[in-house]
Amino acid sequence: MNEALTPAAGADLMPLVDPDSFPLLARARTAGEPLAYLDSAASAQKPAVVLERMRDFYVQDYANIHRGVYPLSERSTEAYENSRARVAQFLNAKTDEIVFTRGATEAINLVAFSFGERFLKPGDRILVSALEHHANIIPWQMLRDRRGLRLEVIPIDDNGDIDMPAFGRLIDGAALVCITAVANTLGTVTPLAEIIALAHRAGAKVMVDAAQGAPHLRLDVKALDCDFLAFTGHKVYGPDGIGVLYGKEALLAEMPPWQTGGDMIRTVTFERTLFAEPPRRFEAGTPPIGAAIGLATALDFIEGVGFDRIGAQDRALTEYAIGMLGEIPGLKLVGAPHRRSGIVSFVMDGLHPHDVGTLLGAEGICVRTGHHCAQPLMDQLGIVGTVRASFAVHSHAGDIQRLAQALVKARQLLG
Ligand SMILES: Cc1ncc(COP(=O)(O)O)c(C=O)c1O
Repeated sequence: MNEALTPAAGADLMPLVDPDSFPLLARARTAGEPLAYLDSAASAQKPAVVLERMRDFYVQDYANIHRGVYPLSERSTEAYENSRARVAQFLNAKTDEIVFTRGATEAINLVAFSFGERFLKPGDRILVSALEHHANIIPWQMLRDRRGLRLEVIPIDDNGDIDMPAFGRLIDGAALVCITAVANTLGTVTPLAEIIALAHRAGAKVMVDAAQGAPHLRLDVKALDCDFLAFTGHKVYGPDGIGVLYGKEALLAEMPPWQTGGDMIRTVTFERTLFAEPPRRFEAGTPPIGAAIGLATALDFIEGVGFDRIGAQDRALTEYAIGMLGEIPGLKLVGAPHRRSGIVSFVMDGLHPHDVGTLLGAEGICVRTGHHCAQPLMDQLGIVGTVRASFAVHSHAGDIQRLAQALVKARQLLG
């Protein structure tokens, strides 16, 4: 280790969960070394408990749900509905306020099509922040174009924090605010409670994109009082192909379905269809049953680790990373938000993020490079992309030391 790259504090940070509890991390080797998996903001690795629970479910209890009258289907239905109750408990919501979707993206599209088409009128204003992932921009752009709405951007300051005075001015007369809980590129933790209170005072509804928030923050929808909240299974150590939409009971009750087909109806004739009550009204077709079961176990796993410990570890790891990376010549950290989750983004003078990422990959260090599905933010920052390291419960100081060493090498190799 290069002496100059060894700051005092943090070098002994241990993982909250042994990386070997994740079968892929226990197995994967590059040149004999385990992976330094620093890409959990893109997708988290899966702990053995989640994989085992899903395997058990498929081996013992799997059948299609809701329609079967035989015991196997009843067990499968019960497991699926218990998972919904588990998600409700995780968010402090009512069970019927939880809609299973295929991901955060689908949850946001559901709100744009169902709530948006029914409740937003031509001329209404939707606010999105400059920090948003494309998943929380494009559905609103499309809705704007279909319904003749206006889409306006809540700016950020130089640190990458929401510009709250600007938000205070924009919120007047807005109909809907679409805001991330944690920014996927800069790691900014947005002041959700304050934003939601201001929005409600102005008569606007609030949709929270918690895709990056759910793995790092305790989310209490009742305390926050948000109207909608979306998150995704694969970032909370659960399977891919499943997401969650929380919606306030009274809102979901008034919303039309957005996809139609089996399982979301009361009665169908060739003349007309009566739809089921929420949440089933919003779950057309066979849902991701096994993934819902895996998600419930993932939530047990993450709550077992504890959000207080996760928050403290995120702070310690990001501080350590910022200290170490800050010593590398020509490396510039991107964003310095006041409250940050376990994400650090940076650029290196004269080096393309993809080239840096490829070299890191060859050393067994997994980071994300590019625009991170946040091209408007990249344009505003005047960069093509960043290298992003993101932390999880298995992350530790050694991962960051390897990252820093490999970056020094990249600098030497790439000039
Ligand atoms: C902030 C944010 N929102 C939404 C999404 C979309 O999640 P999914 O692809 O699981 O639907 C992501 C995924 O990277 C994200 O980071």
